[in-house]
Amino acid sequence: MTQPDPAAAGGATPRHVAVIMDGNGRWARLRHWNRVRGHREGIESVRAVVRAARRAGVQVLTLYAFSSENWGRPTYEVRALMGLLRRFLRTEAPSLKEQGVRVRAIGALEQLPAEARAALAWAESETRECRDLQLVLALSYGGREEILSALRGLLRDGTDPGRLDEETFRRYLYAPDLPDPDLLIRTSGEMRVSNFLLWQIAYAEIYVTDVLWPDFREAEFERALESYARRERRFGLTTEQLKEEP
Ligand code: IPE
Ligand code: IPE
Ligand code: MG
Repeated sequence: MTQPDPAAAGGATPRHVAVIMDGNGRWARLRHWNRVRGHREGIESVRAVVRAARRAGVQVLTLYAFSSENWGRPTYEVRALMGLLRRFLRTEAPSLKEQGVRVRAIGALEQLPAEARAALAWAESETRECRDLQLVLALSYGGREEILSALRGLLRDGTDPGRLDEETFRRYLYAPDLPDPDLLIRTSGEMRVSNFLLWQIAYAEIYVTDVLWPDFREAEFERALESYARRERRFGLTTEQLKEEP
């Protein structure tokens, strides 16, 4: 059962913000440019949002950078995205380290090209000791695949179905130590979750903006946090119950 988390029950800064960074292609298309230019510009938004999240005291920022389904895009685009990822990790790790940002990744990482995996391992090890913000990159990530991979682990370990509860299941997810997202942001106006963190977003507050990802910078992120601060999270309880002293 999902228990109410008083620390996250309104007015507060979300501990974990998850973002579906969408709209790079449309941003480029509006300018009659190649989609890849949109992805490149989107990296500037990643930098901005990391800074803003850290400043706001967010503890975990999960960015949906590449979905399981995105492998089906044209080869040139997939290659360009993998190249941008590698370059981002190589060039950004020192600055992330300086800012106290720890880099992690979730997803079917074994499917990434070797160079991208190597860059990821390097950035992870460089920033291992950082404590201010965890930047979790969802790469080759699919929520259904994550649930299946947890199930495979549970079966492999011979888990007794009668004893299987939510806490046990959670331990088999990609990053069991992370709290569930409090706030899920999607840019570019699409009202769907596109296979992102299906288990973890059970009680996330959802914020959708029409702003395209390359235009989503500090001010837009702060706007999302302000919207979150005005929400009343009820976790299935009544407003009266939530006002009662514990
Ligand atoms: C999001 O932008 C980035 C990835 C999915 C990798 P899109 O590339 O999906 O941009 P649109 O949705 O086509 O505008
Ligand atoms: C979701 O965006 C995946 C990422 C942001 C990485 P998509 O553009 O792939 O999602 P759909 O196809 O619009 O649902
Ligand atoms: Mg898209």
